[in-house]
Amino acid sequence: MGIINGICFPMMIMIIIINVSAAENVTYDGRSLIIDGKRQLLFSGSIHYPRSTPEMWPSLIEKAKDGGLDVIQTYVFWNLHEPKQGQYDFGGRYDLVKFIKEIQAHGLYVCLRIGPYIEGEWTYGGFPFWLHDVPGISYRTDNEPFKFYMKNFTTKIVNMMKSEGLYASQGGPIILSQIENEYENVEGAFHEQGASYVRWAAKMAVDLETGVPWVMCKQSDAPDPVINTCNGMKCGETFKGPKSPNKPSMWTENWTSFVEVYGGQPYIRSAEDIAFHAALFIARNGSYVNYYMYHGGTNFGRTSSAYVITSYYDQAPIDEYGQLRQPKWGHLKELHAAIRNCSGTLLKAVPTNISLGQSQEAYIFREEAEGCVAFLINRDNKTTAAVQFQNQSYLLLPKSISILPDCKTVIFNTAKVNTKANTRIRKPTLTFDSADRWRKFTDVIPNFEDTTIRADTLLEHMNMTKDESDYVWYTMRFDNNVSCTEAVLHVESLGHVTHAFLNNIYFGNTHGNKSSKGLVMENPIKLNDGINNISLLSVMVGLPDSGPFLERRVAGLTRVEIQCTNENEFYNFTNYEWGYQVGLFGEKLHLYREQNLGDVEWDEFEVVSDSNQTLTWYKIVFDAPKGNGSLALNLSVMGKGEAWINGHSIGRYWVTFLTSKGRPSQSLYHVPRSFLKDTENVLVLLEELGGNPLHVTLDAISINLNENQSYSSHPPI
Ligand SMILES: *[C@@H]1O[C@H](CO)[C@@H](O)[C@H](O)[C@H]1NC(C)=O
Ligand SMILES: *[C@@H]1O[C@H](CO)[C@@H](O)[C@H](O)[C@H]1NC(C)=O
Ligand SMILES: *[C@@H]1O[C@H](CO)[C@@H](O)[C@H](O)[C@H]1NC(C)=O
Ligand SMILES: *[C@@H]1O[C@H](CO)[C@@H](O)[C@H](O)[C@H]1NC(C)=O
Ligand SMILES: *[C@@H]1O[C@H](CO)[C@@H](O)[C@H](O)[C@H]1NC(C)=O
Ligand SMILES: *[C@@H]1O[C@H](CO)[C@@H](O)[C@H](O)[C@H]1NC(C)=O
Ligand SMILES: *[C@@H]1O[C@H](CO)[C@@H](O)[C@H](O)[C@H]1NC(C)=O
Ligand SMILES: *[C@@H]1O[C@H](CO)[C@@H](O)[C@H](O)[C@H]1NC(C)=O
Ligand SMILES: *[C@@H]1O[C@H](CO)[C@@H](O)[C@H](O)[C@H]1NC(C)=O
Ligand SMILES: *[C@@H]1O[C@H](CO)[C@@H](O)[C@H](O)[C@H]1NC(C)=O
Ligand SMILES: *[C@@H]1O[C@H](CO)[C@@H](O)[C@H](O)[C@H]1NC(C)=O
Ligand SMILES: *[C@@H]1O[C@H](CO)[C@@H](O)[C@H](O)[C@H]1NC(C)=O
Repeated sequence: MGIINGICFPMMIMIIIINVSAAENVTYDGRSLIIDGKRQLLFSGSIHYPRSTPEMWPSLIEKAKDGGLDVIQTYVFWNLHEPKQGQYDFGGRYDLVKFIKEIQAHGLYVCLRIGPYIEGEWTYGGFPFWLHDVPGISYRTDNEPFKFYMKNFTTKIVNMMKSEGLYASQGGPIILSQIENEYENVEGAFHEQGASYVRWAAKMAVDLETGVPWVMCKQSDAPDPVINTCNGMKCGETFKGPKSPNKPSMWTENWTSFVEVYGGQPYIRSAEDIAFHAALFIARNGSYVNYYMYHGGTNFGRTSSAYVITSYYDQAPIDEYGQLRQPKWGHLKELHAAIRNCSGTLLKAVPTNISLGQSQEAYIFREEAEGCVAFLINRDNKTTAAVQFQNQSYLLLPKSISILPDCKTVIFNTAKVNTKANTRIRKPTLTFDSADRWRKFTDVIPNFEDTTIRADTLLEHMNMTKDESDYVWYTMRFDNNVSCTEAVLHVESLGHVTHAFLNNIYFGNTHGNKSSKGLVMENPIKLNDGINNISLLSVMVGLPDSGPFLERRVAGLTRVEIQCTNENEFYNFTNYEWGYQVGLFGEKLHLYREQNLGDVEWDEFEVVSDSNQTLTWYKIVFDAPKGNGSLALNLSVMGKGEAWINGHSIGRYWVTFLTSKGRPSQSLYHVPRSFLKDTENVLVLLEELGGNPLHVTLDAISINLNENQSYSSHPPI
């Protein structure tokens, strides 16, 4: 286990301790974590193992270490690890132990946020859906069935870590664990049971005897000895501090950007702003800063929560593809080096603050003998301020913090970026424009007669899919014996998308968005005389991940009516005989798996008639582009659906949902190199809306420094 310890100016010696297997004693006091008797000022970054591939982990961790991080923080993803009750999966991208050992091999520490409720823009907040069907369960409160399963999984993870010797107390890299997550946000909803649940969760965790401290983030009443930590954008300004004077001030989530949803714009947080707030937190007694995310990665498969796009925190210091995002990465690296340069004094001295002007102040850490560190802060975001500090003049850039490791010399200013910006560029490397290489399969639209699940009411969506599909078919048959010629179909849903078919013909869709509570479809339809079949496809784009009473959340159709204006008739089909099918036909056949590709007759692709078809599967075989650079599938010509490469889902896509600026939220979808073979790769697309697969391309994604103009013919992204 190694960490890098900086001795403060003026000695300027970097001591590197690499001490692979010795057990370390992790405790804390009011100033910081204490590892083997030494106070620690730690920079940490979130990297979530299932949001990249094991092949990417070593390079991500290496880049995090080069960027000056001491700790990698990850959640543990319960619904990946226990998809069916008592059946566990820790293989491939889910290999938590391998990920932690990789971090250990790089000499970094780990903060393990077990949760097991994690939110994390992860479907169902990380809960396996089977919990929903446990009799009498109520999540995240003083409820016996919930506490049983929460304890069961937490114990499983802790025991697994112990048996691999991964806690620092055993010589491993884990110095912290987290129980629960941002519970304060929902605690009020549970009244007294909330507080007793917090006490139970803390005791349950502490009793597992990991030998390292536990934290609860955003939990100001965290019971001893659990440490409450801050999450947010501006903990330097907002954090009221730890609950007790003997707990350190720690920031578990410093958001480097913000999660992006379909229809939303990317949130770009500047390197200067992140550095300002991290430095402010340190100046105000902070001793642990975690960047959420340091590498966001990809929400593969159907793992993102409601409306969240497939690319996750691409604006982090390491981008979705594992490339450095400059100047963010480099600027923070300089900040870390500057702070580390004086961490000895920072951790020993008691800080004082003085005013230097109306919006300017200094935080000073002065040791009794020698050693003095100052942070000069200018909160004015418009003007440079000239200030006097200890008889010297300083010009403080707008909204900046200058770091003076000797209380004289400025070695770093958060608003002065020395790192050159880079630009990401894409270059199509493979096109799929020959129609004779594509095959297509049109999914089957079920009618009432085709269904076996029946109910005389509209059933709830999630309780039907059990999160095994995004789709539920609601079908009914209706005898139009009043010659309704001017009919309007009115459908209300708490799902995310509704597609409507009348007598097997597609006639429209509606979708909601992250902030809408539901959606309404109102479409004129042409009914046949006699029997009509109406088939409505309810779609969810991820399950909700937050809020109290998640187990009671509902989705799917809630109301269906036909208004017949010529006859002045009104038909209410809400309580009517409905037939159901969970999932699409092609999903049931696992058409995206190589071994199942032969289970249906795929048709030739006809350019004229086969473009822009709803509910259609497309497949094509291709050889991988040479090299090992990053790749993305450019789906800007498609609509909405899911894409697979050799049976690996690279995630949902939705390019027709435009932002307020009229652009898709995401049109490039990461294809990890490890999903590809050299030859004979199979790409499968499931398209709901329409689109032209002939114009899909596989693009090489790379970065270049802005000074190099030779790539300018390729669009930056
Ligand atoms: C761990 O450190 C604390 C405080 O530094 C000390 O009280 C305790 O005895 C140490 N425990 C072990 C096992 O060394
Ligand atoms: C977890 O529950 C299973 C039964 O579902 C049981 O076999 C196992 O022993 C439990 N594990 C713990 C650590 O409680
Ligand atoms: C956390 O980072 C965000 C930007 O990513 C920044 O705005 C915020 O101020 C930071 N908070 C702290 C406490 O450093
Ligand atoms: C930092 O800690 C010192 C010593 O405990 C305390 O006096 C001071 O108020 C703290 N500063 C902030 C900003 O919390
Ligand atoms: C540490 O501070 C000294 C004195 O200002 C400076 O010479 C040195 O470059 C600094 N090191 C880093 C890594 O910032
Ligand atoms: C020192 O910091 C505290 C806490 O933020 C603040 O209330 C106080 O006004 C500051 N003092 C000066 C002189 O700026
Ligand atoms: C600049 O500071 C003012 C006053 O604190 C604030 O209202 C404004 O939002 C800030 N602007 C930016 C861009 O941060
Ligand atoms: C600043 O200058 C004054 C007057 O020359 C002197 O008394 C004081 O000690 C100086 N302060 C520092 C910190 O050097
Ligand atoms: C979920 O569906 C089952 C039948 O599969 C039913 O017994 C149960 O009542 C449903 N639960 C809810 C909350 O709708
Ligand atoms: C059509 O006629 C049948 C038989 O008279 C009746 O049961 C049914 O309700 C009618 N359908 C509608 C939509 O009115
Ligand atoms: C249709 O029937 C449902 C269920 O009985 C009822 O809740 C709803 O109000 C009815 N709609 C109208 C417009 O009457
Ligand atoms: C695809 O079809 C929809 C209606 O079904 C139409 O609005 C859209 O313009 C078509 N797109 C193309 C590229 O033909």
